[in-house]
Amino acid sequence: MAEKINRNLQSQDFSITNNRIAQPSSEFYTVFSKQEILSLIEALKIRREIPLKYSYKGAGANIWDNFYRKLIIPNWYRSNVEIQLLRDNFQYLNANTQNSRKVNIIDVGAGNSYPVKEYIRKLDKLGRIDRYTALDISEELLEVSKRNFTRWFPFIKYTNSYIDIENSPIPEYLLHRDNVNIFLHLGVTIGNLQHRVKALKNFRQSMGRNDLLVLTNEIGNNSQWDGVARGGCYYHAEQIYQRINKNIGIQHQDCQLIRKYDKKTDSVVANLKFTSDYTIDFSSAGINKKVEISKDEEITIWRHHKHQLPELIEELEQAGLQLIYHSTNKYQLHIMAICKITV
Ligand SMILES: C[S@@+](CC[C@H](N)C(=O)[O-])C[C@H]1O[C@@H](n2cnc3c(N)ncnc32)[C@H](O)[C@@H]1O
Repeated sequence: MAEKINRNLQSQDFSITNNRIAQPSSEFYTVFSKQEILSLIEALKIRREIPLKYSYKGAGANIWDNFYRKLIIPNWYRSNVEIQLLRDNFQYLNANTQNSRKVNIIDVGAGNSYPVKEYIRKLDKLGRIDRYTALDISEELLEVSKRNFTRWFPFIKYTNSYIDIENSPIPEYLLHRDNVNIFLHLGVTIGNLQHRVKALKNFRQSMGRNDLLVLTNEIGNNSQWDGVARGGCYYHAEQIYQRINKNIGIQHQDCQLIRKYDKKTDSVVANLKFTSDYTIDFSSAGINKKVEISKDEEITIWRHHKHQLPELIEELEQAGLQLIYHSTNKYQLHIMAICKITV
């Protein structure tokens, strides 16, 4: 009898130590709206992914801002790629918006607004900017953008607002149709999205016939990745990994960070690999859901898809957009694509 109880206890112990339960922190429930949590759980259940866009919210805003200011601006050789590409394309953008005296800049996924500083200054000198609108999924980054922009340009009209460009077009009240609108989507953000064509369709729906969409991405063949993590894939993914562990409540000894090429999404990804069975228990704030993850399963926490030019043109066409001009940086690794709606 004693032996049987002992055996039962041993098997119970075994199941406790091998089936961990993670409970997201109270911060998690304050940072995300209920709708965002439900969509995160859905992505986790169906695609085994925590969409990268959510990592910019809450304390994630600081992670991005620090990463940008400490690593992208001073050190990284590709650091000023957006600024350089905006510089290279300044004449073209100016010449192609001459049917309105002034332009509105609508920066979607604005981050801290640093990349547009020089561009706005040049437009301002020519008396060509009417207003700047920063849109982002991260309310905290919108605060950083506002602080920066209003300090740099106290006399330019500034508006900001929450948006998830994968889910909805830009609300009409933010669009001032009296001027040409230049929509910016910089920082290779299009390559991080899950629904690229859906996002492009949302841009298309927000654009008038004279408006421009200016986006950047890396170009090349994803499957030929050399296996060396650099830039965002190295620094940003590492920080996101640590924060997810803390916020979701996964013990660091129960998981590891893996970067690899993912054939299904044709992207380079950073994955969190579980070394124990886990149940993530989202039962708080009226949400009663659990996600089971088995030992050795991986969830994607960072992803990037480079475009090849024909593929980019095709995705733009699917969204009702046409590429009217493009240029690459000197290493031919980044593209700035300028688009109009197809009429
Ligand atoms: C890679 S950062 C680029 C920031 C800035 N444009 C730059 O070039 O430095 C991506 C930005 O887009 C925002 N973002 C990501 N996904 C988004 C989405 N689906 N809708 C709106 N903003 C999004 C993030 O919060 C972040 O500020």
